[in-house]
Amino acid sequence: MRNLTTFLSIAILLAFNACQSPQSNKKDAIGTKIDSLISLMTIEEKVGQLTLYTSDMDQTGAYIRKEYESDIKQGKVGAIFNAYGADYTRRLQEMAVNSTRLRIPLLFGYDVIHGHRTIFPVPLAEAASWNISAIQNAARIAAEEATAEGLHWTFAPMCDISRDPRWGRMVEGAGEDPFLASLIAEARVKGFQGDDLASNNTLAACVKHLAAYGASQAGRDYHAVDMSENILREVYLPPYKAAVDAGAVTVMTSFNDLNGIPATANKFLLTDLLRDEWGFEGFVVTDYTSIMELLHHGVAADTAEAAAISLKAGVDMDMQSGFFQKTLPTLVENKQLDEALIDEAVRRILKVKFQLGLFDDPYRYISKEREENDIMNPAQLEAARDMAKRSIVLLRNEKQTLPISTKVKNIAVIGPMGDNKRDMIGSWSAAGDWSKSVSLMEGLQARYPGANIQFAKGCEIEGTDKTGFREAKQIAEKADFVILALGEAYWMSGEAASRSTIDLPGVQQELAALIIETGKPTATIIFSGRPLTINWLAENSPALLQAWFLGTQSGHALADVVSGYYNPSGKLPVTFPRNVGQIPIYYSMKNTGRPFDANNKYTSKYLDVPNEPLYAFGYGLSYTKFVYSKLQMDKHSITAQDSIRFSLEVQNTGKLAGEEVVQVYVHDQLATITRPVRELKAFKNVFLKPGETQKISFSLPIEALYFYKADLSYGSEPGKFTIFAGGDSNASLSTAFELR
Ligand code: BGC
Repeated sequence: MRNLTTFLSIAILLAFNACQSPQSNKKDAIGTKIDSLISLMTIEEKVGQLTLYTSDMDQTGAYIRKEYESDIKQGKVGAIFNAYGADYTRRLQEMAVNSTRLRIPLLFGYDVIHGHRTIFPVPLAEAASWNISAIQNAARIAAEEATAEGLHWTFAPMCDISRDPRWGRMVEGAGEDPFLASLIAEARVKGFQGDDLASNNTLAACVKHLAAYGASQAGRDYHAVDMSENILREVYLPPYKAAVDAGAVTVMTSFNDLNGIPATANKFLLTDLLRDEWGFEGFVVTDYTSIMELLHHGVAADTAEAAAISLKAGVDMDMQSGFFQKTLPTLVENKQLDEALIDEAVRRILKVKFQLGLFDDPYRYISKEREENDIMNPAQLEAARDMAKRSIVLLRNEKQTLPISTKVKNIAVIGPMGDNKRDMIGSWSAAGDWSKSVSLMEGLQARYPGANIQFAKGCEIEGTDKTGFREAKQIAEKADFVILALGEAYWMSGEAASRSTIDLPGVQQELAALIIETGKPTATIIFSGRPLTINWLAENSPALLQAWFLGTQSGHALADVVSGYYNPSGKLPVTFPRNVGQIPIYYSMKNTGRPFDANNKYTSKYLDVPNEPLYAFGYGLSYTKFVYSKLQMDKHSITAQDSIRFSLEVQNTGKLAGEEVVQVYVHDQLATITRPVRELKAFKNVFLKPGETQKISFSLPIEALYFYKADLSYGSEPGKFTIFAGGDSNASLSTAFELR
């Protein structure tokens, strides 16, 4: 009987493949194939398609647990994550294809977040470039490399807005602003998925983590989220939606509960919103064991209930808890669950496997040749360097301390990040090999071949040991220029890396004070996966650069910037607070009924810290200066049928060529619901030669004025609006118009 069914299924598939349908019928043809496949599947095989398990690593390399191997061979698992490499993925795929009755290929997923082997800057750093096409290209290269090692699916882009730098996962996102983050989410999906999912160098994207994970209470990871639907829809949902609209074929649930319902059992999120409202047609995977976690959330009494409520809410694939596998067949057998729900989930998952072309050739992504040629090649490394230099933000540059002349003789590099390769690639660095990353020292040596470059660590990243201070001070005193390289270790941001203080760890600030006291021209470079409270450095370090974690090419990119070979153009995608007490702090706050007034105690402020952040969203300096003027509108009175058209002039008044991110913010002066003091609505990257002036025109669609009203309807209201334009969110050049 078994052989007969196998024969039948293969015959059916071959028949389908032989009569390749024209493009227009492709969708229907896939649907028919899937239906016939489902009709042949046992309940265990169906649930197998809904099951995702991990591969593991030990000293000898990658391995698959014995029980998972046996599951693969019986068709009880349909997807594996953390497995890559041509030989290894081929071995696993052969297990699935050669040993199972229906020969359904496995799907291989992995967290390819900011590069696969060539590691690009961490996502928050990439966001600081405000360079959407470079970000798309970074995702494209990540997909080229990952697919060359047999991968089909990346657990990215992470689209969680975060306004709380205590939360370590801020590093994985695009910062605090929905407009910027949405453009980035879209770019990443397009980069990963390309134009044709079936091509062997495109990866299926996974929009994560639905939803509002970045608003975890008190910045503590996995914590609860409680927010109004207005803020959810206006601030937190847009990047996920943008990624779905860009064609992402999978979505991942988040760990948090949202207004009392854990995301993994949240029908409002996974069905009403995602499928019914947004029209998502792909499949939903849980986060790691998050079905199991429904027990801890206290919304499911046991394994079976946890599985059932998440499936009913709209989950299709169970990552790692094994609860679907353990309970769904029995629930169906006992008539406690409708098998049609399982069929629907299977259908969605098989569809993605078809779209990826795995039924045409389960090995199409596995190529020894591509593995050798398409990984860390010169073009990929060059793109990573380009992205890295664009991600660096110049925060301070007193008396033009930077750039450092290439004629400088003695440079001292001081601090635990100075001769450090390990931390450069940041967290979630996929298959990146940190030993192949370029340290700051190596980058400087390449850029300043004639200089004497001395290094002293001074102290560790953490701890209280100051025995290295003496040597550090000695080399600083002998140098013409000092670079302080300070920051967090790579593991201090990312998952499960929340911090209740976000100061520089250990004794690094004391080291900085000792060195800066020497009076030598000094530039401090901060490496971190989140904003740190660096007030002291902001006042005392003559120059200050935010470098995040820049990936494989870190040292080269930093040397490009400190030498002036590249004029820094990065802008903060997130507000830098003065202390943790200001958190959450973001530029698009509400005004309050008692706006700040220094002369009135009873207005909205603190007794002990200003309301203003240390550095505002959108902020970032250049070695040159940009002057904004002539903000002019076509018409100051428009109707809902018009677009909002205006122009302005930007002049480079300095001596160096440079790139500026021209930012436009809008404030709705009067509405039926309180509106933020300003919201980013447009930006343009402009390159200007010294002395050059450019007229820049914008045309915003009327939807730029839409918002969610008290009844959650979405639209604009007549009234007055202010437009602000400039180089950061404090932009002061403004004009006003009226929507009739
Ligand atoms: C993370 C996800 C990730 C998954 C698989 C989880 O712990 O929250 O972002 O994709 O692990 O590695």
